[in-house]
Amino acid sequence: MNPFVYGRVVSSGDFCPRPRLSRMLEEFIRSGQNVLVQGERRTGKTSLIHETADRTDSKIIYVDFLESRSVHDVVRRLLSGLIGLDRKAGILDRVLGGLVHLRPSFSFDQITGNPILSLDAAVKVRPETVEGILDAFKEAGKGKGLVVVFDEFQDILSLEDSAQMLAVMRGRIQFQQKVVYIFAGSIRNEMNGIFSDPDSPFFKSASIMEVGAIEHDAFGGFIRAKFSSGNRRISDDMLTKIYGIAEDIPGDIQQFCNVLWDCSEPGDEITPELIPAALELIFSREIKGYGNALAKITELQIRILASLARLGGEKPFSREFLESTGTVHVNAVRSGLARLEKLKIIYKRKDRYVLVNPFFKAWLLHKGY
Ligand SMILES: Nc1ncnc2c1ncn2[C@@H]1O[C@H](COP(=O)(O)OP(=O)(O)O)[C@@H](O)[C@H]1O
Ligand SMILES: [Mg+2]
Repeated sequence: MNPFVYGRVVSSGDFCPRPRLSRMLEEFIRSGQNVLVQGERRTGKTSLIHETADRTDSKIIYVDFLESRSVHDVVRRLLSGLIGLDRKAGILDRVLGGLVHLRPSFSFDQITGNPILSLDAAVKVRPETVEGILDAFKEAGKGKGLVVVFDEFQDILSLEDSAQMLAVMRGRIQFQQKVVYIFAGSIRNEMNGIFSDPDSPFFKSASIMEVGAIEHDAFGGFIRAKFSSGNRRISDDMLTKIYGIAEDIPGDIQQFCNVLWDCSEPGDEITPELIPAALELIFSREIKGYGNALAKITELQIRILASLARLGGEKPFSREFLESTGTVHVNAVRSGLARLEKLKIIYKRKDRYVLVNPFFKAWLLHKGY
């Protein structure tokens, strides 16, 4: 079986230990300090948090705000966080008792069998509803330590009432000395807005931890051991090439190793000659997504994207860049970049624009866009 796992949370044998980060996070948890775990997508934030929180033996409430669209949705997700907790304490039942007007009901996920909570979509929900739920979190934390994880927290900002929602949350969280809140987020400038803007209710409320690339020594050893479990060898040079193509993003490195495995046989050495076939395999699996992305954007935006792939995104307003996009208008490029960022096709990484998916970039270059 292919030992390289990507696209979901990894744990135990699929998790390459990150002792420095784990220790830091564990220290925050043990000392009751709220923390913001910040880093780009697919760098391993969620996996690190689960792996570390499990080790501290705390109770965990995990809430993912990815793509949450409304107060309604946020309330439902927060309530769902209480489902996994001890039913005996009756906390969930009590909270739901106060929310009968939302007509909460349970069903079961056909695939996982996990309970799913739904609320009456027709009833308007106000941000204040969250207060009672966060109070219930506090109650759930009595006795044993409780860690509450708010993942992809920046997506709260896309709610219409986001300012009020943040204020309400902060108002409750600041009085929960015994509960540790871990906020995780992947869109740096938005997370900065929540935690570093003096006007934000969350200003300076959490310590900050950065999750980036995994150190090459540790990750290289981990990857080599996986390949050798299938009787395959890999050189340091080749590992360096993989880090480059996958732009040092742990999830993309695993994805690339996954296809290299599929393109090789026991007894093989993983060499650069395999790269084209491995990329082709990724393209064939992802081509639909590339097509969908291109269908959403204009001709000019496609040229901007291709120019980013070709020239890099350090100087998107330079003459060379403009020429390559075929426009003389800086503003057209500026709004094109904004649109591509909004669609999550590109993002800003340390003051330069990069494609979210390095394999999409490789495909654009391969196709000669
Ligand atoms: N410690 C790790 N060891 C090995 N692979 C990892 C590790 N952390 C992340 N990954 C890779 O990255 C992918 C995404 O991990 P995830 O924790 O969901 O990242 P994030 O929450 O930052 O988006 C995983 O499926 C895995 O391929
Ligand atoms: Mg995550």
